[in-house]
Amino acid sequence: MIIAIDGPAGAGKSTVARLAAAALCFVYIDTGALYRAVGLAAMRAGADLNDPGAVAAVLPGVRLSITYDESGGQHIFLGSEDVSLSIRTPECSMAASAVGRVPAVRAFLLETQRSLARARSSVLDGRDIGTVVLPEADVKIFLTASPEERAARRWKELQARGVDEPYEKVLAEVVERDRQDTGRPIAPLRPAEDSVTLDTTGLTLEEAVARVVNLARQNAPAE
Ligand code: DC
Repeated sequence: MIIAIDGPAGAGKSTVARLAAAALCFVYIDTGALYRAVGLAAMRAGADLNDPGAVAAVLPGVRLSITYDESGGQHIFLGSEDVSLSIRTPECSMAASAVGRVPAVRAFLLETQRSLARARSSVLDGRDIGTVVLPEADVKIFLTASPEERAARRWKELQARGVDEPYEKVLAEVVERDRQDTGRPIAPLRPAEDSVTLDTTGLTLEEAVARVVNLARQNAPAE
């Protein structure tokens, strides 16, 4: 069974997807981490992130792999280096969003995402999982929240990790990433026609997770 959770940056997709996957005993696949790892590789290579040709030229040297620890936590590797933490900086968020606009990057990551999802029952979060990557997903959820609420959540997350960024800057980045992610010509962020929209603005985390778990149970394919 495949559950696709798409939506804008900071809507709570990763937390909701991880907890819903745990409740259902499914694997959680964080597809943003793949884009972040490619963004990190491109930054390290000194590529101009606004030049699709320069970004595409980095791809042949990118070796991505994913492992899971005992608690189901996803670790992402660039070559032999675990970059799971290095990809979480604001610079890497912007780099991921920039490389996500490059068709060669999306093609490069397409099969990786499909084969990860088809190996086991899984919950994936991303931008185009229900529309492009896995249109056959059993449940498609478009998870969203207001930009202010999303920025406030991101800000708290960054603070907890010791990254001191002013709220206004985080909000500006959320708005800018929305613009980039929805405005790109290839695989733009939009709800799949057969998706259920879940606005988490007034919901607690537990409520959001419960909605996802219920949708999964209601839509479980017959044995
Ligand atoms: O979910 P995230 O914030 O970790 O994603 C980082 C960026 O990667 C996001 O701004 C857009 C891009 N992305 C994408 O284009 N498609 C996906 N399935 C996941 C992420």
